Amino acid sequence: MPTPEINIFRDQAQVADAFALFLAMASRRRPRTTIALSGGSTPQLLFRRLAEDYADRIDWSTLHLFWGDERCVPPDHEDSNYGMTKRLLLDRVDIPAANVHRIRGEDDPRREAHRYSAEIMEHVPEEQGLPAFDIVLLGLGEDGHTASIFPDQRSLLTVEAVAVPARHPETGQQRISLSGPVINNGRHIAFLVTGAGKADRVREILLQEGKWQEFPAAHIEARNGRLLWFLDQAAARGLPEQGLPGGRTT
Ligand code: 6PG
Repeated sequence: MPTPEINIFRDQAQVADAFALFLAMASRRRPRTTIALSGGSTPQLLFRRLAEDYADRIDWSTLHLFWGDERCVPPDHEDSNYGMTKRLLLDRVDIPAANVHRIRGEDDPRREAHRYSAEIMEHVPEEQGLPAFDIVLLGLGEDGHTASIFPDQRSLLTVEAVAVPARHPETGQQRISLSGPVINNGRHIAFLVTGAGKADRVREILLQEGKWQEFPAAHIEARNGRLLWFLDQAAARGLPEQGLPGGRTT
């Protein structure tokens, strides 16, 4: 399995710019690009940058957008990852509605997990027996979760399913998440992590220190491509200056 590629940038604006360029270049290399987006706050600056700087520099008709996870709320709810992406990006670029594959957070989670799994299998090419997204964009929670795979639900890392119901351990909020095997089948898995609040988790996960085994993000591996980290200096401050053993730092 290839070692993670660590990319460290001055601040979150540079992280957003770097990933926007990465996405633009990746989309130009293929006639069709499937990407699973992350939610939460970190990707918001990225979505703004894409809308501001790449509306005419990406052929959005070649992108198929999915979500790595969604909160089980209606699309106009303030917690909706789709709603946030629509406001910051989708309403500002020329992407066909048919290319936007939202998770229906307003529907019954179990039924929606099945429906969304079928939609993914219909639109995302299979490799090694599972849907293989060209890009899986991930965030990192301070508790080490990623997508909506939380430390108390690590069975979702190995479950034989494409998308699964999940639950936030503190709020109890129901979620839908891609499963660990589908995330790990991505051809380019990219963590976007910024801010000093994530530095301890980033160090523990990348150096396999402390309770790293408890963190779902530590079990994300590039089984079918590349694992990349896009970090700002604040989130990377716990990493050794000389880089990681085997990892590539740019
Ligand atoms: C979500 C995300 C989740 C997020 C992390 C980090 O739906 O909340 O997909 O996995 O990436 O919780 O969130 P922040 O970017 O807000 O720190």
